[in-house]
Amino acid sequence: MHGKFITLEGIDGAGKSTHLAWLAAFIQDRGIQAVVTREPGGTGLGEKLRALLLDKEQVMHLETEALLMFAARREHLDKVIAPALARGEWVLCDRFTDATFAYQGSGRGLDWARLRTLEQWVQGPLQPDLTLLFDVAPAVGRQRAGNIKAPDRFEQERDDFFQRVRDGYLRRAREDAARMRVIDAGAPIAQIRRELRDIVEPLCR
Ligand code: TYD
Repeated sequence: MHGKFITLEGIDGAGKSTHLAWLAAFIQDRGIQAVVTREPGGTGLGEKLRALLLDKEQVMHLETEALLMFAARREHLDKVIAPALARGEWVLCDRFTDATFAYQGSGRGLDWARLRTLEQWVQGPLQPDLTLLFDVAPAVGRQRAGNIKAPDRFEQERDDFFQRVRDGYLRRAREDAARMRVIDAGAPIAQIRRELRDIVEPLCR
């Protein structure tokens, strides 16, 4: 039996990491084995690529950036995600391919058709069973992320960049409404948790 593959998405400062930790505990409390991982990263090589991708001193071509995201993803799928799902475990992943469409595609301006080719190449038909999109206005995200002392290569971008990223995410959600659930990340945390519980609990049975 295959486990469930759940991804969490949203602009920087949407609160994804807090919700991921809560969700992991919620699932594990129901006796389900879950691997918690992230992109870019999740493997030895992937984490090295992550360091390059987030280093704000590192200059790279936009297509290089997208290719490195997918290179890290290829490794992650092979070494972590597919084996865990095959063992029947769940995988909770902090960002996945929707982030590449949103950030490199809509944020930076790389043609989505290019990304669809890479998506097909790297993943074939594999898609998350569920994607939780934490949607929030860039100004709110910025405020929440405001206490980050050393913003990385993405966090240093301006609100108009994050607005395009947000729009890209929402476009992905419209294109794949069966997989992606949009959550108002500006809502009180108790309300968000109730919503997460209502979405995820039926999958645990
Ligand atoms: P993030 O997930 O926000 O981690 P942290 O909470 O530690 O800052 O950081 C990863 C960054 O990488 C984020 O700014 C979005 C970016 N990213 C892309 O641009 N494309 C991608 O495909 C992925 C997976 C991430």
